[in-house]
Amino acid sequence: MSGAAHPGRVAGKTALITGAAGGLGEAMAFMLAREGARVAVTDIDAARAQALASRINAEVPDAAFAYAHDVASEAEWEGVIAAAVADLGGLSVLVNNAGVGGPLAFVEQDTIENWQRQYEINLRSIMLGAKHAMPHLRASAPASIINISSIAGLAAAPGMGAYNATKAAVWMYTKTLALEAAKAEWNVRCNSVHPVFIKTPILDPFIAMAGGDEDKAHERLARGIPLKRIGEPDDVAYCVLYLASDESKFVTGSEFKIDGGMTAQ
Ligand SMILES: NC(=O)c1ccc[n+]([C@@H]2O[C@H](COP(=O)([O-])OP(=O)(O)OC[C@H]3O[C@@H](n4cnc5c(N)ncnc54)[C@H](O)[C@@H]3O)[C@@H](O)[C@H]2O)c1
Repeated sequence: MSGAAHPGRVAGKTALITGAAGGLGEAMAFMLAREGARVAVTDIDAARAQALASRINAEVPDAAFAYAHDVASEAEWEGVIAAAVADLGGLSVLVNNAGVGGPLAFVEQDTIENWQRQYEINLRSIMLGAKHAMPHLRASAPASIINISSIAGLAAAPGMGAYNATKAAVWMYTKTLALEAAKAEWNVRCNSVHPVFIKTPILDPFIAMAGGDEDKAHERLARGIPLKRIGEPDDVAYCVLYLASDESKFVTGSEFKIDGGMTAQ
């Protein structure tokens, strides 16, 4: 064994992660940077994205750049990708992570505004990102697109119509992209990740429903999970790390469930 430092599982990769100012995106950005990638951290909340990039750079110098980015806007996708490609020196990984839930609502109380918002942020953004990143991903191949769906894209729950529908569409559209890229021999792989409940701010409504008692909310959410707990952001980030790296070079069009055994039942 030589004494050389481990080069990192994604050394030399250049990755753009959307919705990365906190939650799962933050964990992914830190993990990819620690494993050798340069990362573009984008979020609609520009100040938090910038703060995260500063924290990453304090640990891994010059690894992170931050951008203000509403994934519902095609013009912003074009501007952010151009800037990130220039700053990072290319683009070999796109993580479509930005996503939102909505109010729990059965069909008669549901609204078109709720559906429109989730459609634009959870689903249409995936197409816009893939469309505008693809020329750069091809140029930086081997490359990888990682779409963050949800276990809710594979299994339904009452009151979550727009979330179930948009996340299921992300799952299927990922396969379309994977097959297009394979047929065209672009050497760009595309896979989806399906987390169950993970400790991030997206679970705040469940904490509110438990009267602000976080432990009680987490315990309630864990009831249907065979491993009897909810997940940590790093549980998802490790999967993203694998899919971003060339370790997964024969993996495309697949779905990765990070669900503590929930859908095995
Ligand atoms: N945490 C979970 O339990 C869980 C489970 C399954 C799937 N997911 C999915 O994982 C992804 C990340 O979720 P999270 O748990 O980190 O949530 P989060 O709410 O902590 O983070 C989401 C981020 O997206 C950003 N964002 C919101 N609208 C945006 C827009 N229009 N453009 C750009 N950024 C925007 C927010 O500012 C925030 O930083 C989402 O797609 C979510 O659906 C999360």
